[in-house]
Amino acid sequence: MTEDLRAAALEAVARSHAAADPDYPVVHLAPPVGRLNDPNGLLVDSGTYHAFYQFSPFHPHRKLVYWGHASSRDLLHWTHHDPAIIPDSFYDRSGAYSGGALVLEAEETAAAPAGAPYQFFYTGNLKDPVTDERTASQCLVTSPDLAGFTKWPDNPLLPDHPAGYTAHYRDPQVWRDPDEPGSFRMLLGVQREDLTGTALLYRSTDLREWELEGELTFPDAGGAFDHFGYMWECPGLVHLTDELTGQVRDVLIWCPQGVAPDTEGYENIFPCVYTVGRLVGTELRECDGTFAELDRGFEFYAPQAFARRPSEPGPVLLTAWAGNASEDDQPSIDTGGWVHALTVPRVLTLRGGRLLQRPVTTPSDATPGLTLVGEGRQAAAPIRELEGHRSWQLRLQAAPDADRWGLRIGTADSCVTIELARATDGATQLIVDRSRSRYTQHGATRIVTLPAGTAPRLEVLHDRSITEVFVGDGEIAFTLRSFVAPHATGAGLLADDGAQLTAGTVVYD
Ligand code: FRU
Repeated sequence: MTEDLRAAALEAVARSHAAADPDYPVVHLAPPVGRLNDPNGLLVDSGTYHAFYQFSPFHPHRKLVYWGHASSRDLLHWTHHDPAIIPDSFYDRSGAYSGGALVLEAEETAAAPAGAPYQFFYTGNLKDPVTDERTASQCLVTSPDLAGFTKWPDNPLLPDHPAGYTAHYRDPQVWRDPDEPGSFRMLLGVQREDLTGTALLYRSTDLREWELEGELTFPDAGGAFDHFGYMWECPGLVHLTDELTGQVRDVLIWCPQGVAPDTEGYENIFPCVYTVGRLVGTELRECDGTFAELDRGFEFYAPQAFARRPSEPGPVLLTAWAGNASEDDQPSIDTGGWVHALTVPRVLTLRGGRLLQRPVTTPSDATPGLTLVGEGRQAAAPIRELEGHRSWQLRLQAAPDADRWGLRIGTADSCVTIELARATDGATQLIVDRSRSRYTQHGATRIVTLPAGTAPRLEVLHDRSITEVFVGDGEIAFTLRSFVAPHATGAGLLADDGAQLTAGTVVYD
């Protein structure tokens, strides 16, 4: 008898006590049980957001990845649904790996596979039990209503990697070609046979037959990405108009494994970077080879933007895995049988070639500002509005002459501190210190030099065991797991005596 993998996952969820764990987040999507990694198939549908994600319900006892599913109306409170993709087919029985969604317009639906408005593309992972040899294929799942999900009977769509590449061939993202009505494109991460990473582009008019166009190339980048890591995971393109120049740009966001540039940053096992250009055919033109990390925190990987119908326009919203490879050693696996979360979606904008990231909600919209007065940096003057709370958002603005100021999350004995400080050379640094918290394995303190001109403003979204920090207008984003003790509630101000800061707060718990 074949194992009923759907029933086994539902049973694991039913037995879970994860939500009772004091570290389980309130406004971040975390798995109902087991392990979560990449966001997948993100989409918005008539104002309801759907997030799918890499879900291992039997972690840490057994490694098998499903697509988990949750939905939300406000991007802060999520309802869990049954898993959408079960790895029980001959082509995905070692895991339903990452991929993306395409949301069709009514007039596109009739001709689409299964006549369905929701199309999901993912990677079927197969490992030979004897030789451990990997086969990766690209597969399709359709849904009429985001409640039922059906694997395409002719799966896999792309049964194997093309010649010249290895079986590291995964993470499809599909979108409408804005320049060619009726045509769809697919971007995939891949490893060349010479063990360098790149991305492949495919094209289709019916979403069933996909034709290889070739590698994504960078004709104006001076070779910057020719030998850029050994594998590119989760490549995606977002389309943004640059606020400064008015130009429409394609921003490539991806995770090149094995890149360690000789510059500040790149402290995580695998980085996540972006570069800006304009996609014409398979060329990302007008990209000069400049790249930067998307987020400077300890835990951030595999981000993806929400797919939309052209008839439901809105901001570019991006969510990532607040984790990274080989970081399953967090306290929650013992206290609640779950590990990892997704970031709260961020709004992306582009200004002068630099990505700005802002949380979807901001306290300045919700509360009148309060004025806080520092009582000496070590004293951490408690912020009254946050007393007793462990899930909240705070916006702090300092006077331009403040030399060192910031926030302590938790209490003196168990805390994470986030500060902005002027260095001797006049540059301002973000200093994050979680050395007095329960999770420091992949870094305890980190310093980020802010770009010149970044406004003295901190937005912090803290949610029990995960914190997202945004500096200035969102020039720097920093995501971290912040396991302060459950008794260590609230936050305090770290500022020099008499320093004036204004703040706005929202409480979520
Ligand atoms: C990135 C990744 C993807 C893959 C998935 C498997 O974290 O390795 O490349 O599809 O996770 O869970």
